[in-house]
Parts: sequence; structure tokens; C-alpha cells
Amino acid sequence: MTKKILIDTDPGVDDTMAILFALRSPELEVIGLAAIFGNAYVDVTAKNALHLVELENNHHIPVAKGAAVPLVEPPRSMGMHVHGDDGMGGINLPDPDGELLGIPAAQFIVETILANPGELTLVPIGPLTNIALAVRLEPRIVDLVKEVVIMGGTVYADGNASPVAEANIYNDPHAAAIVFNAGWPLTMVGLDVTLKVVMTKNYLDKLCSVGNPATEMIRQVLPFYQQFHMEEYGLNGDLHTHDPSAIAYLLDPALFQAEQIPAFVETVGSCSGQTVLDRQRQLGDFKEINVCLGVDDRSVLDLFWERLTG
Ligand code: BDR
Ligand code: CA
Repeated sequence: MTKKILIDTDPGVDDTMAILFALRSPELEVIGLAAIFGNAYVDVTAKNALHLVELENNHHIPVAKGAAVPLVEPPRSMGMHVHGDDGMGGINLPDPDGELLGIPAAQFIVETILANPGELTLVPIGPLTNIALAVRLEPRIVDLVKEVVIMGGTVYADGNASPVAEANIYNDPHAAAIVFNAGWPLTMVGLDVTLKVVMTKNYLDKLCSVGNPATEMIRQVLPFYQQFHMEEYGLNGDLHTHDPSAIAYLLDPALFQAEQIPAFVETVGSCSGQTVLDRQRQLGDFKEINVCLGVDDRSVLDLFWERLTG
């Protein structure tokens, strides 16, 4: 049976790779995309999301535009230095053919969960603002969603937005705190695993030479992102695999080693945006979440390769 998913996303170079990975996986039925600020402004990420469903001839998949700013604090940063001004490595895509939905992303998320009780998996791969707004709008979605699988957070790995915080959590810690404490089945695919899945320059060069519409799009958006990884991490054309790893988890959770652990998100001070495990519940009565700590990196890369080139 296919898994129905709704991806909440800020495309974004690695979001692009993740969305194409999902659209090309027959086990997944992408019911919709919701756009969020993050790697670029939300007007831009929404347009990019629409463009990606059209690229794979999925014009029927609805795209809703979501929040432009975090819940409480002003935006900390947008990721244009990582993903380019257009979020797509500066390739300046033409306008998509289709239109965005006429309702905000939070409402779209609520309506989609209510229409598919117990069946929909939410897959946020950007800041968690739309998801927190949806919980506020209709708290019943917590019991009606099948599961929530996020790309975000870090426990043992260094942060990438602050010494302790991963970017998606850092960009709206208050929203993340709501999502972590909601009490729904939540899996965290964070930097502890995504940094271990490395697409080498050789792997990417071969992928980009395949020449189908998906790999052509990846070939165009990659150079800016690779340049950032070179300057920031000294990688020579290699990339960490963030958002596509969440899709790999949906396809085959057995590729990941995960533990159920009580966790919370810090929202104040210099550690704001940190995802903290509190095994003994010393700091509060926190909800358990499923935290990915290990990964079969080779198999994740093979799966991505198979779907993108097949
Ligand atoms: C996350 O931050 C964004 O820049 C990426 O798209 C990914 O979702 C990685 O920390
Ligand atoms: Ca993202």
C-alpha cells in the first residue's frame, strides 16, 4: 500500500532533491506540498515548489503557500547564502504554469489530515511554523495524523546554524517546541544522520550525467550549493544529504537506527534552537520522540540513485 505524504518545504536545493526523490518513489503518494520561508522568502519557495511538481508532470498535486515569518521572533536569517537568491542555486526558473491554492498552508495541512484520518504522514523539511500553526488551528490533527517525520535537529553532531542548533529548528524554535511537545508520533531525521550520508563529487557528477528531467534539474541547482559546502566545510564538491534522508526514512525506516527518547526544544538564550534529549525527564515531562542516531549511509545513497535514475 502506498504511503500518503504531505511535504512541508522551503525549496531549496536539497529540498528539490528530496521532492524529486519522493515524486519518483511509487511507494509514496504525494498528496500536496506546503511552502514555508527558510532557504528563501516564502513567495520564492512556493513558486519553486509549484515548479517541481510541474517538472515531474504532477500538475494535479496542490501547493499551498505558508508562513513568511516565524511564530514569535523576527526571522533570524534566510538561507540565500546557501541556496542562492532564488533558492535554486541562482538558475532563475521561469514562472510555473499553475496557481497556488487559495488557502494558507496551515489550513491546507489541517484539511488534508481531516480528509485522510489515520493515513497521512507529514514530512516537514523546513522550519516548523506551518505545522505549529496547523496544530493551533485544529488540535485534533495530533490524533488524526499517521506520523510526522522531520528533517531537523541535532543531538550529538555540531549545529549548522549555531554551535548547538540545526537550521530548520533554529529558524523557528517556538514552532519546533510546539511540534516536539504535541504528543504525535514524531521522528527526527537530524544532523546526527544526515551528515553521515555524503554524496561525493563523483556520485553527483555521475547522477548529473544521466540526463532525465529530474537529474537535469539537480545538475542546474547544484553548483551554488556545492560552492557553499566547499567554503563552509572544505568539501571538494561533496555534499551532506539533509532533506533526501527524511524521504529515505519514509521508504525504509530499517536503514536508520532510532531510539524513543523524551526530548524538547530550547527557545531562549544562546542555545535557542537546540534539540535536547532528557532521558530521565530531569527538566520536565517531555514527550518521547523517535530520534535517528545511526544510518546505513550506503543504502540511502543507493536508494536515492535508483529512484532518481530509474
Ligand atoms: C536543513 O536546512 C536547510 O538549509 C536545508 O534545506 C535542510 O532542510 C539542513 O539543516
Ligand atoms: Ca529544507
